[in-house]
Amino acid sequence: MKVSAIAPANIAFIKYWGKTDANNRVPGNNSISMNLSEMQTVTTVEFQPYLSSDDITFQNEDAVYAKEKERISGALDRVRILAQTSLRAKLVTKNSFPKAVGIASSASGFSSLAMAALGSLDIRLKPHELSKFCRLMSGTAARSVPDGFVEWLKGSGASDSFAVSLHPADFWDICDVVCIVSSEMKKVSSSDGHLLAKTSPFYNNRIKGMKAKIINIKDALNRKNFSRFGRILEDEALSMHAICITSTPPLLYWEPATLAVMKKVIWLREKGELESYFTIDAGPSVHVICQAAEAARLSLTLSGIPGVQRTVVNHPARGVHITNKHLF
Ligand code: PMV
Repeated sequence: MKVSAIAPANIAFIKYWGKTDANNRVPGNNSISMNLSEMQTVTTVEFQPYLSSDDITFQNEDAVYAKEKERISGALDRVRILAQTSLRAKLVTKNSFPKAVGIASSASGFSSLAMAALGSLDIRLKPHELSKFCRLMSGTAARSVPDGFVEWLKGSGASDSFAVSLHPADFWDICDVVCIVSSEMKKVSSSDGHLLAKTSPFYNNRIKGMKAKIINIKDALNRKNFSRFGRILEDEALSMHAICITSTPPLLYWEPATLAVMKKVIWLREKGELESYFTIDAGPSVHVICQAAEAARLSLTLSGIPGVQRTVVNHPARGVHITNKHLF
């Protein structure tokens, strides 16, 4: 059976950086995110009896690396083990945005893959089981399963670490204006970055402060207190990057344009012109969070910064779901 699924990337307000169990992708702390309406991956899967190996195609991508196909085949192996089949799959996947530039393409990619592949073998998992299953393929993929605003619970280990929805997508119309500043693949993957986190002398301190930070941001979210919410998420982005910069070897994901956007956001706020807050994942792109009424003006202002190639305005979105728009 041919099944297609569509999944959003997500932006973390409280980041997942560092794991307690690397093989099972169990995070060192809970994280909080929002699904992105315009950063989506569609994946179509069909298991076919005449294939001797998985037939994997990325639509609209110039460079596809052998490593990526291996990781996808590895994910399909997990589905095969669950379904107790040795059938190989034809899989076509398409992103609406460039991968590996600090937008969680592995989140949308692997969650859409999991839902499509499981569906095509007629396996139905409960939402939290699907989130757990996605986590094994890519940590952030666990957060692309539930709707809207999401918390990924670190749990006590591999068996109970999954993501849940805190609020549906229409709870609060805040936007993520993504500033894409480079379309080059990053040199150090986030999987490798997670492993370095503990080499930072500040990592333990970061983890110690996490519980309070999570309580704080959830309270600001529940009350829709944008200024408080924004201050916490911006501090948090800097905290994660402080870990990256002070790891051994150090990881500096920023480009000059990354810093230019950060400075502009602070400047606009200090001048009282526009209130927004930045956050950055493991790449040079900057995610600027604002209230919906200001998204168009903010997007126009940020797109004029030298080095910003493109801006994309995202609203909160639902999680992974089945679509009938097949890619083959
Ligand atoms: O799932 P990964 O390995 O791509 O993790 C990336 C984690 C960050 O994007 C840097 C932070 C987060 O919580 O999304």
